[in-house]
Amino acid sequence: MTARIIDGKAHAAALRARVATAVAGFREAAGRAPGLAVVLVGEDPASSVYVRSKNRATAEAGMRGFEHRLPADTGEAELLALVDRLNADPGVDGILVQLPLPPHVDASAVITRIDPDKDVDGFHPVNVGRLASGLPGFVPCTPLGSLMLLRDVRPKLAGLDAVVIGRSGIVGKPMAQLLLAESCTVTIAHSRTRDLAACVRRADVVVAAVGVPGLVRGDWIKPGATVIDVGINRTDREGGGTMLVGDVDFAGAVDVAGAITPVPGGVGPMTIACLMRNAYVSACRRDGVAVDGRVDASGTPG
Ligand code: GUN
Repeated sequence: MTARIIDGKAHAAALRARVATAVAGFREAAGRAPGLAVVLVGEDPASSVYVRSKNRATAEAGMRGFEHRLPADTGEAELLALVDRLNADPGVDGILVQLPLPPHVDASAVITRIDPDKDVDGFHPVNVGRLASGLPGFVPCTPLGSLMLLRDVRPKLAGLDAVVIGRSGIVGKPMAQLLLAESCTVTIAHSRTRDLAACVRRADVVVAAVGVPGLVRGDWIKPGATVIDVGINRTDREGGGTMLVGDVDFAGAVDVAGAITPVPGGVGPMTIACLMRNAYVSACRRDGVAVDGRVDASGTPG
């Protein structure tokens, strides 16, 4: 069997188009555009690329972008003061502080300072708690995008065995909460897990989010399983240059899985599409405008 390749790029483009239509409706209703502030401290090359893409997507969605690029030696107090200003700015509906922050800044203090109702990343402890409690809030963009792709190929998730590999606050933990809310039987595996291969072999759904190239081997995959590869790892290409690979050995898994996301072109593009969705939803909530149902598959959490 050869797996269905899940086209995250096409899904993301479709979601972004639906968000742009919904944003046009919001602008009519509210008389203003939704606003998204993105804060970047320092010049980490990968973060700079992400922030540029986020700002471009914000403009393409018809939203206002507020870009704040600060030098790497910006102090924590200065960053907290900027967050305070963005919290108080009525034109800002969403605030994203790009991670990682330089080591002299306490990232958790910065995230906790963001108004939970503008926390479109879903990283604030209030939104973490809302997700765990099944309350409306903001769900982190990468797991939300992963769930959207998963639901498209597996509309009936209830009762399935799912393994999430990785326990980060950005992906692993919220992904596990989302799968639990879908009534999957969820295992969270991590670097101290004793027999990862056995966990993966049981799973109908595998979500890999550890940042170890090719960690999940093809012969670990249960035939017909759905594989969502969140890893984006730059590795050396045979014969020179570099390439992006996921946490799953794609060549090995593609002959066994029922469906699989490629890297690149799988989960990656969904992250920014979901950020646009969250920023639009935030503006709707803040202005009391009904959310256009087309931005969500039915029952989308957050
Ligand atoms: N760094 C890597 N991924 C993310 C993300 O989704 N949000 C933020 N703020 N920083 C990140």
